Amino acid sequence: MMWLFTALVVLARADVLWGFAVGAPRSTCRSMTPDHGRHITPRTTNQPYHFEISPLYYKEGDEIQVKLVQNGTGKAYVGVMIQARYTDPTKLQVAVGKFRISPSDMGTLKLVCYDGAVSHKNNRRTESTEVTWLAPTRGTGDIVFKASVVQDYNKIWLGIESPVLTYGDAPPEP
Ligand SMILES: *[C@@H]1O[C@H](CO)[C@@H](O)[C@H](O)[C@H]1NC(C)=O
Repeated sequence: MMWLFTALVVLARADVLWGFAVGAPRSTCRSMTPDHGRHITPRTTNQPYHFEISPLYYKEGDEIQVKLVQNGTGKAYVGVMIQARYTDPTKLQVAVGKFRISPSDMGTLKLVCYDGAVSHKNNRRTESTEVTWLAPTRGTGDIVFKASVVQDYNKIWLGIESPVLTYGDAPPEP
């Protein structure tokens, strides 16, 4: 009987913590903090995830491939939220541009925050997340991609940042 109780508690907690996948209210869109994760201290350093972005520059209307991957293995996660933000602190800190999810990922990912963010749809463990970012058709400025990741019921990482994506033409070859 005890194992069943434990299993149910673990399941219930994982479900609650996957928080930001459920509807993503506007406050979550701004803070990128899971809704129900407040009783857990989020980690902000030594995050075992990083972004792979290509290319590292963009112009209006461009499509950029964005991938969040684990460093090494064994760090699969149950929840994720990804957004783009301007690096300029004087600009409004809200999601920039929109995302597109490939048809094969529709079962696990969904668009939230008026398509300005991607989040998990369920709490199935995942090894990496790959999406397309659609740059705004107006509006300029360097951006970074930001991620919040729920690794499991007591490990949340906030503020994972990609390298800077420069607004403008391809940099000259070195
Ligand atoms: C994971 O990789 C990223 C990018 O290389 C790095 O910044 C980060 O410190 C690494 N995390 C750990 C825990 O090694």
